[in-house]
This record gives sequence, structure tokens and C-alpha cells, in this order.
Amino acid sequence: MSDQIRYQLHEADVPRYWYNINADSPVAPTPVLNPMTQEPVTPDFLSVLFPMELIMQEISTERYIEIPEPVREIYKLYRPTPLLRARRLEKLLDTPAHIYYKYEGVSPSGSHKTNTAVAQAFYNKAAGTKALTTETGAGQWGSALSMACKIFNLDLEVYMVKVSYEQKPYRRFLMETYGARVYASPSNLTQTGRAILEKDPTNTGSLGIAISEAVEVAATSGGAKKYSLGSVLNHVLLHQTVIGEEALKQMDLAEEYPDVVIGCVGGGSNFSGIAFPFLRKNLRDGRRTRLLAVEPKAAPSLTRGLYAFDYGDTGKMAPIVKMYTLGHDFIPASIHAGGLRYHGMAPTLSALFDAGYIQAVAVPQVPTFEAAVTFAQTEGILPAPESAHAIRVAIDEALDAKAKGEKRVILFNLSGHGHFDLAAYQAYNAGQLEDYEYPEEAIHSIPERLPQISIPA
Ligand SMILES: Cc1ncc(COP(=O)(O)O)c(C=O)c1O
Repeated sequence: MSDQIRYQLHEADVPRYWYNINADSPVAPTPVLNPMTQEPVTPDFLSVLFPMELIMQEISTERYIEIPEPVREIYKLYRPTPLLRARRLEKLLDTPAHIYYKYEGVSPSGSHKTNTAVAQAFYNKAAGTKALTTETGAGQWGSALSMACKIFNLDLEVYMVKVSYEQKPYRRFLMETYGARVYASPSNLTQTGRAILEKDPTNTGSLGIAISEAVEVAATSGGAKKYSLGSVLNHVLLHQTVIGEEALKQMDLAEEYPDVVIGCVGGGSNFSGIAFPFLRKNLRDGRRTRLLAVEPKAAPSLTRGLYAFDYGDTGKMAPIVKMYTLGHDFIPASIHAGGLRYHGMAPTLSALFDAGYIQAVAVPQVPTFEAAVTFAQTEGILPAPESAHAIRVAIDEALDAKAKGEKRVILFNLSGHGHFDLAAYQAYNAGQLEDYEYPEEAIHSIPERLPQISIPA
């Protein structure tokens, strides 16, 4: 057996098409509702926020959607990303399992978010948009979009969850270096932000609040600004499928096929990006790969949330969608995986999970960092705290395979590096990190906190 570690594709292998799961999904899409009228949204409503090409991708059932050449050209800065076999981790675990990971941290801004940021900036530019607004948690999405907006010469303002804005200034500096303006959310620049601060001046923010602020600014700009979202929506999941398309080819190079594909989930985009091309193989070619989404115990939307219609944001500005949700007023605990602290989950992924095509597991913060450090010490890469959730479960799978004495091929997505998360690592190293379980009372009260929707689900 060869001791190959990296499975490399060439620049010419950068995918030419994104894969649209809605062409093959056995579950029907659920309606998207206007938050004001609770009626199905029209393209006109959405066009206040998004350019028409992205709206068409949102509802498309075409199996493959061509990646525009200018987007492929930028992808070539970092794609194809490497697939690596974690031989040193396997050795440490003394497992018969083979562990592969797709490394998206090589993108210029440090994570998979660049895959959709570049596409969204391109379609906005092509539609004549001059300025974008967005939210960001710990700053991965904000930095990706800042870079993409600079490349396409678009102005960008970013609403950054206040706790991260204050505790993790380096991502803010990166966004500002790319040329974006960054505001701590809740801010006093929007009605939503002012109302929240009036009730609670010490509010440290949430993704749900930051989304409301960014949406409000775009929606009230009289057409001058559009809004861009880094996860959850179909077009975002679509753009991320370059990860899985490349991984399929790279697993071929390794002459193996994964028994299980693992990814962390915040809004669901990096997991969908690696998993959907393998789900296509399950659905169309009779493959039986397990697709395993990993979330934090502190924000367990898939494993403990309710599958129901809910607002996409706290301020009820964004559309109502059917998803696994903890309630749009969810206040997350301040765990260090800022990108996983969203109240809901992508509707497409939610529907597939509900129908049993996807599985999910929730892991606590401390064992997640333990896995991240083990990975850093064996493979050398310092993972983003978000991505470390996938590593935790990849290690658990490898140990389970060892206990059962079976060879298992494990593939996980390493969605980003953790070079801007060193304060979290320092806290872990000093024994200061704590586990946080989302309280049972909060789960019980979800139904009364959701909008009352009368259309049949
Ligand atoms: C490195 C990294 N991985 C994962 C996520 C979670 O997002 P998603 O579920 O959309 O991939 C984030 C979000 O910010 C992130 O920064």
C-alpha cells in the first residue's frame, strides 16, 4: 500500500458546474413565506434583497448549474483544495479506519465561505449592484465577502455580532483591510438594533439580530444596496458543492469510497457542500454512504429543535421558512464556534434530515477542542473551532471502528483554519473552557415562540 497523503487535482479540474440537490431530492421543497403577509414570497419581494440570477438559483431544479468563468478564475486562486489522508492521526488512534479530510482552509480568507462569497459578489456585480450588506458571527463569512467585494469593486458593510466584535478583533481588522466597514451588532444604525438596545443596552448580539440589521439596511436603501447571506439559502448550499464534486474525484485517486461523510453545521452550507454530491451517488447509483452533520450541544437545532415554520432572523425581517429551529429569539451561549450559533438550519437540509437521508449528532465544546488539539498535534493544521466539531466526530467514528475491529473509510470537511481563534485555544489550554447544554425549558418553549402559520405544512 502506498503511503500517499495528499490527493491533488489540477487547476483544470476546478469544477465547471455546481450540483443542485433539488434535481434529485426525494423530498418536496417547502414554501418560503413573506414575513409580513405570511403568504408565499414572490420573486419581486426577494428582488429587493437579491439579484435575479441568485433568486432563480434559489428555486431552480436544474441538476447542474454552470459556474461562470470569472468565478472559476477566482476559484483557481485556491481550488482545487487538497484532500489529505490523516495518517498520523490514524496512527495515534491506532485505528483500522482510514481518515480523509478535504481542506477548505487554504482559501484566501481561510474558509469554505469564499466559495459562495465570490459567486454572490459576481452575480451582484453583473446585475449592477453597487453595495452589499451582510452579517457575520466570528468573522469568517464577513472576511470572505469582504475579499470578494473588493475583487468585484462592490462596497460592503458588515454587521458583526458584538461579542465577537469585541473579543475577536483580528477578523474585523482583516475585513477592514479588504476594504469593508464593520459595525458591532446590535448597533444604533438600524431600527432593529435601536429597539434591542433600548430594552437591553448590554445585549451582546446574535446572528439572528445581525441578519435583521443587514436585511433592514438593504431593504430600506431604495434599491441602492442588496443583501448577501453566507449560509442557509439554496443558492449558498449550491455554490458549496464544489467541495463534494472535487472530493468525489479525489477519493477516486485514493481508490477508496467513504462509508461516512462528516461536516459541522451552522446554517448547513459546508456540510451540504461536501455531502450533496455523495447524496446524489446514494440516490442515483445505489451507494450507501452515511451523511453525518455535527452541531454544538449549545445550539442543537437539528438534534433538539422543532421542524416548523420560523423567521430567519430575530427582527422578523427575513422570510419565514420551514426548518429545524430553536426559535428566532434564540440567545446563544458564548461558545467559541461563533459560526455555529444560529437558531435554524437550511430548509433543504432540514427536509432531508426529517426524511432520514441525513443524520445528525451534537457534541460539547470541551471534547471538541480536545479533538482540535489532537488534530493540530498530529496533522499540524490548527482547525477553526467550527470545523473541530467535524474532527471530534471523525475521531469518534475511527475509535468506534477500532472497537468493532472494522475498516471504515471516513471523510470529513475541514471547513477552515483557526488562526484567528487563538484566544479560544488559549482558554482551552488554560482549562477555562466550559461545556454548555441548551436548557430543557428553552426547548419546551419553542412552539409558543414561533409564528402561527395556517398553511398546511
Ligand atoms: C470555518 C467555519 N465552518 C463552518 C461554519 C458554519 O457555517 P455553515 O454551516 O454554513 O457551513 C462557519 C460559519 O461561520 C465557519 O466559519
